[in-house]
Amino acid sequence: MKKSVIAIAATSVLAVCVTGCMCCKKGEGMNGKEASVVVKPFGKTKDGQLVHQYTLTGAGGVVMDVIDYGGKIVRLYTPDRTGKAIDITAGFNDMAGYETFDPYFGSLIGRYGNRIANGKFTLDSKTYTLPTNNEPGGIPCSLHGGKKGFDAVVWHVEPLAEGETVGLKLSMTSPDGDQGYPGTLKVDVTYWLTPGNVWRIEYQATTDKATPINLTQHVYFNFKGEASGDILDHELTLFADKMTPVDKGLIPTGKLASVKGTPFDFTTPHVIGERINTKNEQLEFGGGYDHNWVLDNPNGKLAKAAALFEKTTGRTMEVWTTEPAIQFYCGNFMTDKVPSKTKGKNLCYRGGLALETQHSPDSPNQPNFPSTILRPGAVYKTTTEYRFGVKE
Ligand code: GAL
Repeated sequence: MKKSVIAIAATSVLAVCVTGCMCCKKGEGMNGKEASVVVKPFGKTKDGQLVHQYTLTGAGGVVMDVIDYGGKIVRLYTPDRTGKAIDITAGFNDMAGYETFDPYFGSLIGRYGNRIANGKFTLDSKTYTLPTNNEPGGIPCSLHGGKKGFDAVVWHVEPLAEGETVGLKLSMTSPDGDQGYPGTLKVDVTYWLTPGNVWRIEYQATTDKATPINLTQHVYFNFKGEASGDILDHELTLFADKMTPVDKGLIPTGKLASVKGTPFDFTTPHVIGERINTKNEQLEFGGGYDHNWVLDNPNGKLAKAAALFEKTTGRTMEVWTTEPAIQFYCGNFMTDKVPSKTKGKNLCYRGGLALETQHSPDSPNQPNFPSTILRPGAVYKTTTEYRFGVKE
């Protein structure tokens, strides 16, 4: 399909209908919305780089504010069952928020989503050392790509449209040796917003030396609205009958455990808070749910991984992915010391949850897990969709 590419004025506000469809020419898309991409300045990084915000308005009522810094979703508006759209994601109104606190709100994560034990792995007989940036249980590891991961760089952004679907192509090159990883890694991530309220993410990368790669998105959801209390009342389904138990450093032991008969069984819908305080070693290590579920999706086709529902607003979401696993993190490290986007309100403990599609943590050190090694000549390609809806 033909993609329209829109030229962006670097510092001015620009509103364009990028779809070129008949309805938008009349100023209206499906559901009365005009699909568009609008760009405006967001701020500056501490080292002086300009950061822009892109607003994607979908014809079906979902609106996303995305910044080129870390590809972060700053705001995500989805309609509730009455049609009223509010912001359902954690984020900050300014760069100071993102550079002061580092909870990966709404961020692209790379090169490696989640933890690599001790910040070390061996590949083709060579041992690589990554600077460690996290130490759950007092045990150091490399988390989410290291001290300056893909969440903390300014990406090149190109607005896109295909019919009534609007999008952004985010690109960056991670140099050989970046955060200790081998190879020059060229990465493209495309966000699409469809008229059917699907946020589709396509990840693609190539390298000139073998390297681990595990890209994901760390958006936090709270279907009652950002800064509207905790998410323990959300009802979750995970289409997975196994998970990867961790040690107290939150590193997988390498075993696959059946979820049957445990608080980790979300194969049928359960409210998140229902079993979170059960006496269970894994829940103790995670401080709640902070684990990786192995999906019943062996062939890499786009398949349903998770479903989320909040009964007071009627909001629903399905997560579909080509990835073999999903990290469900229920905001155990969130605190009320962090400001929200709503004036005068702070966030709170478990104020958001993340469903991060990916390969399992520490795969470069786990011979029994599917490989995360990308080699020169091969193309890394994965797709994830967050499908928003409502029910009674
Ligand atoms: C999650 C991870 C958590 C925590 C969080 C960021 O992906 O599983 O342990 O580090 O990111 O605060």
